[in-house]
Amino acid sequence: MSSSTAEAARRLPVVILLSGSGSNFAAIAAAAGHGALPIELRAAVSDRPAAYGLVRARALGIPAQAVPVTGHADRAAHNVALAACIDAYRPELVVCAGYMRIFSAAFVEHYADRMLNIHPSLLPEYRGLNTHQRALEAGARWHGCSVHFVTEELDGGPLVAQAPVPVLPGDTVETLSARVHRAEHRLYPTVIGWYATGRLRSTAGVVTLDGEPLSTPVRLENLHAEA
Ligand code: GAR
Repeated sequence: MSSSTAEAARRLPVVILLSGSGSNFAAIAAAAGHGALPIELRAAVSDRPAAYGLVRARALGIPAQAVPVTGHADRAAHNVALAACIDAYRPELVVCAGYMRIFSAAFVEHYADRMLNIHPSLLPEYRGLNTHQRALEAGARWHGCSVHFVTEELDGGPLVAQAPVPVLPGDTVETLSARVHRAEHRLYPTVIGWYATGRLRSTAGVVTLDGEPLSTPVRLENLHAEA
């Protein structure tokens, strides 16, 4: 085995699921690209053939595939096709990075303990959609993002880590979303790194970090700061 092959062998195989712009995908790929994250990005897979995240993946030479919902009888049937596409890349971790569809129970079960999601709020606040708008309407002073293992409960799986982000006077959905995205782009590679190095595990839904059960999510402060 050449040294470069041995190097690749130590990298955790990952498939990323996305539906949109793919800025989180890009942040993860960049961290992997400059060696900060020991993963091998095997593919980006989307429900939307036009997702810009797929364009970003192709530009980096990473396989990019769409599994559209059209042509499938229901969510369960679509998710069977989605899982077949993902499994062809043999990932050990599936990373949801702006994948905007609910999964079937069988899909979640298939990837139990090996699928992460990032959500743009400090869960359990603001599960679901339009989180920035809802935080602004509620007059929240703090907002942020959360990484959790995926379970059948929408945005309700065991939390791993959160990054709080301040809501500033005059914020709009756009300014707040941009600040949360900056935090996401640091939080997600960090958590994926913990998984890739064996520090983070989920076993039957029980999350451990460095062998200790995680009773509250790790809080990483100031990740939104401008570089
Ligand atoms: C991110 O803010 C992510 O937290 C959110 O979609 C955005 C995707 O941005 N995910 C969800 O809302 C999932 N419920 P990106 O395509 O630029 O990475």
